Amino acid sequence: MTESVTLDQFKRYTDRLRNLVDKTLPHLVVDKAPEGLYRSVRYILEGGGKRFRPLLCLLAAEMFGVDNEIALPGALAVEVFHNFTLVHDDVMDNADERRGRPTVHVKWDESTAILCGDYLLSLSYDLLARLETGQLRSILETYNRMVVHLCEGQALDTEFEQRQHVSIDEYIDMIDGKTGALLIASLEIGGLLGDADRAAMGTLREMGGHLGRAFQIQDDLLDITAKDKRWGKVIGGDLMEGKKTYLLLRAIERTSGERRLWFERIIKGDGIGKDEVSEARERMIDSGVIGEADNVIKEYSARAETCLTRLPQGAAVDTLQWLIRRMALRMY
Ligand code: IPE
Ligand code: IPE
Ligand code: MG
Ligand code: MG
Ligand code: MG
Repeated sequence: MTESVTLDQFKRYTDRLRNLVDKTLPHLVVDKAPEGLYRSVRYILEGGGKRFRPLLCLLAAEMFGVDNEIALPGALAVEVFHNFTLVHDDVMDNADERRGRPTVHVKWDESTAILCGDYLLSLSYDLLARLETGQLRSILETYNRMVVHLCEGQALDTEFEQRQHVSIDEYIDMIDGKTGALLIASLEIGGLLGDADRAAMGTLREMGGHLGRAFQIQDDLLDITAKDKRWGKVIGGDLMEGKKTYLLLRAIERTSGERRLWFERIIKGDGIGKDEVSEARERMIDSGVIGEADNVIKEYSARAETCLTRLPQGAAVDTLQWLIRRMALRMY
């Protein structure tokens, strides 16, 4: 793999797919009133983002011979749904910045964020219904399973905020829901559109699961290490909110004495102040968790890559391999 697709070709290929998504999204909400609802919807949809989920959907479909245009409504559906989860997640996480701009509830208010999210959820179903396929019923069942799993993950994430102890197994369970479920469904929709057989569907799910873990642990890591402007979120936001990230949980497990007490205080005290974020970063580097997280991300990402060998070989699989590798190295 990768030999047939060069890095240059990969970039052109994924840029083309991202453009397809980016140029279609704004057309979904034109000439709509009331402005109080739709301006927030346009704001989030036009706010950029890596468009990782629609790429997964388009590439999975292409692997099984489905044209990008045919799979596009499915790809748009998962991106729109993702944007819905971001708007509500920012309310739940008390987050002020997203994609380098104020979050919807900060720019307007919480009512706007709730409605904006509700509308996006409905829009994502509308997009799914536009798919011209005999697989619509299976796609809807897959989709609804994903929605439930994601909500369960988000519920655990908020529940963990109040807990003194969370194990790594519990953490993994939680991220499989809040992040893995949508990556899996994005791939599954592509596979279903291409009438992939049971074995291939299983491989897509397995790959999505590994990817979800790599992606969320990377997100937790970047919360404290990101330097790239495109990160667009408050640095240390998770620590300030007292979130149980992979890094914090492992830092507590790996340290003892004064070092451990320092990290435990973050949980007991409901988070730390902005002025303590760089000290937290230093202490995490010293404890070895930054390096450990890096290795775990690479490990899950390598497992996802292995799944590719069991899928129909061609340009789509090669492109996905590049995408997986570059996601594991992402800086934002
Ligand atoms: C953020 O997702 C939420 C997580 C699941 C970590 P992304 O990192 O894909 O956000 P955008 O769409 O690129 O902004
Ligand atoms: C990602 O969780 C899961 C969802 C948004 C559903 P995070 O809370 O870590 O995502 P960010 O960091 O706010 O993007
Ligand atoms: Mg969250
Ligand atoms: Mg969040
Ligand atoms: Mg995060």
